Amino acid sequence: MPNMIRTHRDEALPKGWRLVFLRETDSTNEEIKRRRNSDPGEGFVIVAGSQTAGRGRRGRSWESPEGNLFLSIRLRQSAQGVADSASLSFIAALALLDAFSSMAPALDVALKWPNDVLVSGAKVSGILLETDTPWIIVGVGVNVLHRPQVTPTNYPVTSLAEQGISFSALDVASFFCHALYGRLRQWREEGFVPIRQAWKSKACGLGGSMVANLPDGSSVCGIFSDLDADGALVLHNEAGQHRILAADVFFG
Ligand code: BTN
Repeated sequence: MPNMIRTHRDEALPKGWRLVFLRETDSTNEEIKRRRNSDPGEGFVIVAGSQTAGRGRRGRSWESPEGNLFLSIRLRQSAQGVADSASLSFIAALALLDAFSSMAPALDVALKWPNDVLVSGAKVSGILLETDTPWIIVGVGVNVLHRPQVTPTNYPVTSLAEQGISFSALDVASFFCHALYGRLRQWREEGFVPIRQAWKSKACGLGGSMVANLPDGSSVCGIFSDLDADGALVLHNEAGQHRILAADVFFG
């Protein structure tokens, strides 16, 4: 493939992980699935300089201009199967938060359910998990230099550059991979409990009112009271308790 570069940054990755950089691809999630036989195993990372068909959550597209980070990593499912993908969504979000906090300790960084990272209250990254049995593909996009022109949910967006953070996309990838490695080890050794606790300690809006726009077009308003053991958002209102598994959420 003419646009493929083997990077010299392998030392910047956790032990045993491998990274391939592509100047451009359709979607790093798609690319990593195509390589399940040629580049097998856990810890295989693809970073692209830009994407021509970047995918977001809920069937949306993801703007993918050069200068931002587009990364996918292949991880092993454990015995828990389906529950893994819920856990990994929070693990990846926490790892991004850890990475940004290491890069810029004074940064105002928080988490928004299910897996967005907010900097100064605005979305700076997105995570898309897809299964490729027996693997889970964790796709991560970070607005390093640019913020998107179009914001499908009208939620405020930002970029690291706009927040005064000047790291290259590959540097962000390296910080993220090390943070992800640490969170994965914690999860595999101690289970979801400390991950959930850490996520909640950085969650935006916990205890406050929230509107969840559900995939069927309906909305639920209530108090964001918890993240349950399966990763569902728990909202309370006069009708009782609602467990929400998929939604776009907005703070009231
Ligand atoms: C979201 O909608 O918030 C999730 C966006 C995920 C985008 C990343 S960029 C790298 C990987 N490849 C894709 O096509 N999507 C994910």
